[in-house]
Amino acid sequence: MVCARGLLVLSCVVVLCKGGPIMATVLNEFEEYVESVMGCRQVPGLTITMVKDNSVIYSKGFGYAQVEDKVPVTNDTKFCIGSLTKAFTSTVLAKMLTTHSRFTWDTPIQKILGNGFRLINKLRSENVNLRDLLAHKVGVPGFFNALLVGFPENVTRGEFISYLEYLPAFLPFRTRFVYSNFMYTLAGHVSEKLGGRTWEDLVRDNLFQPLGMDTSGFVTEVSDFDKSFALSYASRNRKPVRLNEKLLHCVDPLGPAGSIYSTANDMGKWMLFHLTAFRNTSLTPLDIDHDILAETYASQMATPFQEKNLFRPKYPIDDVSLAYTLGWVTSVYRGYKRVWHSGGIVGFSSLMWLFPHQNIGIFASLTGSRDNDNQLPIRVIMSRAADMLLGETPWLDSSSACSFPAPWSDVSPSVPVTGMSQFRTFWNSSQPMEFYIGSYGHPAFGNISVTIENQTQLMLYYGRFGRMVLTPVTDLAFKGHYIGPLWFATQADGQVRPVNVNFSFPVSGGIASNLSYPVDNAFAITFQRDFRKHENNGLQGSLQLTCTTSGNTRIQSTLLTFCVVIIMVMS
Ligand SMILES: *[C@@H]1O[C@H](CO)[C@@H](O)[C@H](O)[C@H]1NC(C)=O
Ligand SMILES: *[C@@H]1O[C@H](CO)[C@@H](O)[C@H](O)[C@H]1NC(C)=O
Ligand SMILES: *[C@@H]1O[C@H](CO)[C@@H](O)[C@H](O)[C@H]1NC(C)=O
Ligand SMILES: *[C@@H]1O[C@H](CO)[C@@H](O)[C@H](O)[C@H]1NC(C)=O
Ligand SMILES: *[C@@H]1O[C@H](CO)[C@@H](O)[C@H](O)[C@H]1NC(C)=O
Ligand SMILES: *[C@@H]1O[C@H](CO)[C@@H](O)[C@H](O)[C@H]1NC(C)=O
Ligand SMILES: *[C@@H]1O[C@H](CO)[C@@H](O)[C@H](O)[C@H]1NC(C)=O
Ligand SMILES: *[C@@H]1O[C@H](CO)[C@@H](O)[C@H](O)[C@H]1NC(C)=O
Repeated sequence: MVCARGLLVLSCVVVLCKGGPIMATVLNEFEEYVESVMGCRQVPGLTITMVKDNSVIYSKGFGYAQVEDKVPVTNDTKFCIGSLTKAFTSTVLAKMLTTHSRFTWDTPIQKILGNGFRLINKLRSENVNLRDLLAHKVGVPGFFNALLVGFPENVTRGEFISYLEYLPAFLPFRTRFVYSNFMYTLAGHVSEKLGGRTWEDLVRDNLFQPLGMDTSGFVTEVSDFDKSFALSYASRNRKPVRLNEKLLHCVDPLGPAGSIYSTANDMGKWMLFHLTAFRNTSLTPLDIDHDILAETYASQMATPFQEKNLFRPKYPIDDVSLAYTLGWVTSVYRGYKRVWHSGGIVGFSSLMWLFPHQNIGIFASLTGSRDNDNQLPIRVIMSRAADMLLGETPWLDSSSACSFPAPWSDVSPSVPVTGMSQFRTFWNSSQPMEFYIGSYGHPAFGNISVTIENQTQLMLYYGRFGRMVLTPVTDLAFKGHYIGPLWFATQADGQVRPVNVNFSFPVSGGIASNLSYPVDNAFAITFQRDFRKHENNGLQGSLQLTCTTSGNTRIQSTLLTFCVVIIMVMS
């Protein structure tokens, strides 16, 4: 049921009449709140949908999908949902396991993919199963920076799977939660093997089509971002700056981890499906065995999301995450059980919260977010929507929503990005510039190319979008500044920061032999000059994983926060 603005239901004395519309005055306040958050946090476009008691009760767009042309956001505007894709991957796998009943969440995937399938070591290759992949139990990290620059164009998912053997692990198998888009892609590949079609076709035929999600699809298949799409924006000097939408293709071939776009209307259907499936154990929704699907909602691995958790007495409410399921996070919000996930991809930020016991669901997605605080605007909007639907007194108002996490936490406000990264170009290394140029490769992370441009500037090229100028700090250590489409890639505090790129030389002198590059903010990987895969046996022994920080290693995603913004991993 839809609530029209201005409709006053006099018999409603509570915030929400069970099964009925939200009171118009409450809704007006909510919409004013949303608009003020969008203003103070520089959000160009937002879409939101709410479901309760088996129907969509609210679905609306705010602001502009395309700022330049003043195209308004509607409840049919397409937004990239990033890691909300992960639940589509686990749900489609639940369908595959229903059909192929000789396999379970615990079947080693080598039994499905064949003996040729390999991860970094024998233990993982022989034992890893879908539960491990989908609950982030493999111990292989996210490599956000490698994802950000994008795999070379036309690398197939099959080729990508063959690189996984060379991916270094960060923690032992099945010991701790280590978020990995790479492992979700592998899970998607398992669905392809079971279903005999691409993961995209399986999602389309088994989920989008039967649920009537007619305006959803895969951003990797979009070349023309017409007026039905919200575009990517970053904020510069507090103004939205359009990003190159081709950057969204950086998710290729990792679609199963984050390539879906959808609309408020379609996500309403997706939430109704899950709320029904959660609640009714006698159903086989979409012919998916209920017990198999129920595993996707069950806690599997404790998550170390300390920084995201809010507790009394510091905060006025509790908002605490507990565990990762298979594509979701279990949590408690103000005493209510909540299942949620977040998604972030190139300027888009999304959240979906389900309260199964109250039969309530909320989805929102917005653009223009700065990566370091991209979950803040959407989180304060979701909190207010949840309070409204749960009938709780809101704990945020338009003033605290703009200052959050202040006044409760003294987290310093993020520094606005003012422009392209500031750098001076100079050459004061004692080595000739020519000694650094060349191609440096890694079996999982591909090739980095170092060149001289305009006779004076050392440049680094990596992936489809990584283009940076290199300036010496010492003969071995350089600062790399992104130029081109990734100019806005920032670090945890919102500053556009240089990347540390180091070279190593043979003792005998001459040209550089290796280059180290931080494929993840917490890790640098060694790339070898003129690396060719077939010439190298014993590759696994040559992998150098350097932890650049000690103690509590913060794996901070940059702009591709496919999951929550900050994942703490204790080392
Ligand atoms: C979606 O937006 C249209 C246009 O504003 C509106 O008529 C419709 O009721 C909305 N849908 C829902 C479910 O709110
Ligand atoms: C990738 O494939 C497309 C379509 O086949 C082709 O047009 C394009 O040139 C290819 N790109 C590269 C770098 O090979
Ligand atoms: C579950 O679904 C069945 C079949 O549609 C229906 O008969 C039953 O009432 C539902 N149970 C609940 C608790 O909604
Ligand atoms: C090289 O020179 C061209 C032409 O002046 C300029 O457009 C380009 O930005 C320069 N490249 C670098 C890395 O400075
Ligand atoms: C080069 O100059 C920069 C900036 O002045 C300085 O920080 C760095 O130490 C110098 N490097 C060398 C190798 O002298
Ligand atoms: C790169 O060099 C800098 C300066 O020498 C050093 O502090 C840093 O640890 C090095 N990083 C790696 C990954 O080797
Ligand atoms: C380059 O890397 C390889 C493999 O990691 C290593 O064996 C070699 O010692 C490195 N060379 C230098 C000069 O650091
Ligand atoms: C990397 O470069 C080497 C040559 O240095 C080449 O053989 C290999 O195909 C390249 N790999 C990729 C993924 O482009």
